[in-house]
Amino acid sequence: MPQKIIILGSKGNLGGKLMEVYADLRPAGWDREELDVTDEEQVKPKLKEFKPDLVINCTAYNDVDGAEEDRAVAEAINGLAPGYLAAVCAEMDAVFVHFSTGQVFAGDNSQGYNEDDVPSPLNTYGRSKLMGEMEVEKNTEKYYLIRTAWLYGAGPSSGKKKSFVDIMLDLAKKDRPIKGVDDEFGNPTYSLDLAQAVRAMIEEKKPFGVYHLVNEGVASRLDWMKEIFIIKEMEVGIVPVSREEFAGKRKAKRPQYEVLNNTKFIKLRPWTEALKEYLK
Ligand SMILES: NC(=O)c1ccc[n+]([C@@H]2O[C@H](COP(=O)([O-])OP(=O)(O)OC[C@H]3O[C@@H](n4cnc5c(N)ncnc54)[C@H](OP(=O)(O)O)[C@@H]3O)[C@@H](O)[C@H]2O)c1
Repeated sequence: MPQKIIILGSKGNLGGKLMEVYADLRPAGWDREELDVTDEEQVKPKLKEFKPDLVINCTAYNDVDGAEEDRAVAEAINGLAPGYLAAVCAEMDAVFVHFSTGQVFAGDNSQGYNEDDVPSPLNTYGRSKLMGEMEVEKNTEKYYLIRTAWLYGAGPSSGKKKSFVDIMLDLAKKDRPIKGVDDEFGNPTYSLDLAQAVRAMIEEKKPFGVYHLVNEGVASRLDWMKEIFIIKEMEVGIVPVSREEFAGKRKAKRPQYEVLNNTKFIKLRPWTEALKEYLK
């Protein structure tokens, strides 16, 4: 059992859930105010002073369209910081946990992607996350690199960027039909389920390496949207549209199948069950 844990990005969607899941072990939660992870000069002394044996990095630049214009910022947070965080962990002999995305893959395989498939990102966000993966693998051996997809769960009161689920609930109040993309697919994943799986994986001392952790099952954006309104018993007009119709509104290309296959760890529950728990 780790004795001293730091969760970086502790006020984010996943970081917040990890703080809850690890509450009994009293982790330190650091967000931007405590440590800006792009400030390399600060990272090493601050971590070394704390002497953690487990560092979980949930910091990220997650604005997929914004990254097309803000490449340097995306690369600093997603690409470079994980590398020197991993290097300090190696020096301290601490385990390093880092998260990546299904958007490191090209998204043209309808069967989804296994952990050892070859990445080939389509957009700047995906390239910055892939850079982070490579930096982690280069700088430490004791790492868990966990790819996930279509994350939600922080709740609208977190003050953070709203997830797809909360945006849909907002749109439903506007009394206008909502457009749902019916030919783009992913694994909607509840951040609480992911956080619990991460802790279980570490405690089971699974071999270090790359893992895919998502709620089971595949949905289109349209399926996801419909399920939200079924669970909430809301009657909302929905218009199916294609990715192509949406393309003009997005600066970044999206993979058609952001589908991850978990072939290495216990499977998480189906996405519909997790969504029900979040919304009830
Ligand atoms: N969200 C998704 O759909 C999704 C999908 C696949 C993978 N992932 C990955 O899952 C992980 C967790 O994502 P999430 O959705 O929980 O992210 P999130 O809600 O955006 O949380 C990220 C946290 O990191 C903080 N942060 C950003 N830049 C920082 C910096 N330079 N120094 C210190 N803190 C900083 C953010 O603070 P500010 O709010 O002040 O920026 C925020 O509190 C990430 O690695 C992400 O790439 C997410």
